[in-house]
Amino acid sequence: MSIFYREVLGRDFRLRGFIPARDYPRGFVIAWVELVGFRANEKPGDKEEEDGVTADSFERVALVTGAAGGIGRAVSVRLAHAGWSVLATDLPEASCEETLRAVREAGGDGMTLAQDVTSTSGWKDVVEAIRDRWGRLDALVNNAGIEGVVAPFENSPEDAFDRVMAVNVKGVFLGIQTCLPILRERGGGSVVNVASVAGLVGDPNIAPYIASKHAVLGLTRSAALSAAADGVTVNAVCPSPIETRMMRALEKGMSEEAPDAIRTSIAGSIPLGRYGSPEEVASMVAFLVGEEARFVTGSIHTVDGGMTPH
Ligand SMILES: NC(=O)c1ccc[n+]([C@@H]2O[C@H](COP(=O)([O-])OP(=O)(O)OC[C@H]3O[C@@H](n4cnc5c(N)ncnc54)[C@H](O)[C@@H]3O)[C@@H](O)[C@H]2O)c1
Repeated sequence: MSIFYREVLGRDFRLRGFIPARDYPRGFVIAWVELVGFRANEKPGDKEEEDGVTADSFERVALVTGAAGGIGRAVSVRLAHAGWSVLATDLPEASCEETLRAVREAGGDGMTLAQDVTSTSGWKDVVEAIRDRWGRLDALVNNAGIEGVVAPFENSPEDAFDRVMAVNVKGVFLGIQTCLPILRERGGGSVVNVASVAGLVGDPNIAPYIASKHAVLGLTRSAALSAAADGVTVNAVCPSPIETRMMRALEKGMSEEAPDAIRTSIAGSIPLGRYGSPEEVASMVAFLVGEEARFVTGSIHTVDGGMTPH
C-alpha cells in the first residue's frame, strides 16, 4: 500500500514500513498523516539546489538595506546563494541594479527599491512592497550606514553628528519597529544589525560614528528582549575594517596625502594582518539568519581578525 501512495502522490515521503493490505484503512491514515507531517515539517536546509549546494532556506525573504554598498551587496548575494529571495534597498542615487544582477546570477529571486532608512514612511512603503510581492518577511538586515566626518572630538561638526545618528541609529530603530509585525506573522524570523568594532571601542577622531555603533548594540539587546516571545531573533555583527568604499573614505579622512600609509598601519593593527572582505561579514549574517542560529539572540558577533581582543 505504501508503494501505491508514493506512485500516486508523485513524491518521496518517509515510509512507515510495509502496510499489509488487510490493514488498508488504518495504513492509509498513517501514511497520509506522515506525508502531511513531512510537508509541514519541511524546513530550511531541506531544499537541494541544482549545483549540489544545500540551501539554507526554503522560500524565505530577506530585506537588506544599504544593498548597493560593499557589505550589503555581499550579504544579498550570499543569501541568494542559500536560496533566499532578497529585497535590496538603498538611497535613490545609489542604484541596487548591480546587486540585483548578482542576486539573480546566484539563482535568487530579487527586487530593488529606493529607500532612505531615516524615513518612517519609506519603511512603511518597503513593508507594503514586500507584502505585495512575497506576502512574508523572514529576515531584516539593517546594514545601511555612513561614516560621517573624520575630525578631532572638539571639532566634530554638529550637523555631521546628526546625520550619522539619523542613518546609523534612527534607521536601525525604525527598521526594527516597522518590520517586527511582519516578521512576527510567520512565528519567527531574524534581524541582523550591522554594527562595527566601533561599537566596542573608542576613537577620538570619529566620535559620532563610534557613538552610533555603540547605540546599535543597545538597540540590538533591547529589541532582542522585546521580540523573543514571538520567536524573532535580533543580533549584531561587528566587523573590523572591511574592503569597501567606507574604509577608502576613512583612510582619506585620516590622511588626504597618504591614505595608503593609513591603510597599511590599520591592517598591521589587526592580528590576522589584513582587512576583512565583505563576503566574510556576509557569512556571519547568513549564519545568524539561518536555522542553525535559532537559539542565538541579543548577542554581538565580531568579524574582526582578532582586532578587539588585541
Ligand atoms: N567597511 C567597513 O570597514 C565597515 C566596518 C564595520 C562596519 N561597517 C558597517 O557596514 C555597513 C555597510 O558599510 P559598507 O562598508 O558596505 O559601506 P558602503 O558605503 O559601501 O555601503 C553603505 C551603503 O549604505 C547606503 N546608505 C547610506 N545612507 C543611507 C540611507 N539614509 N538610507 C539608505 N541607505 C543608505 C549607502 O548608499 C551605501 O550604499 C555600515 O553600517 C557600516 O557602518 C563597515
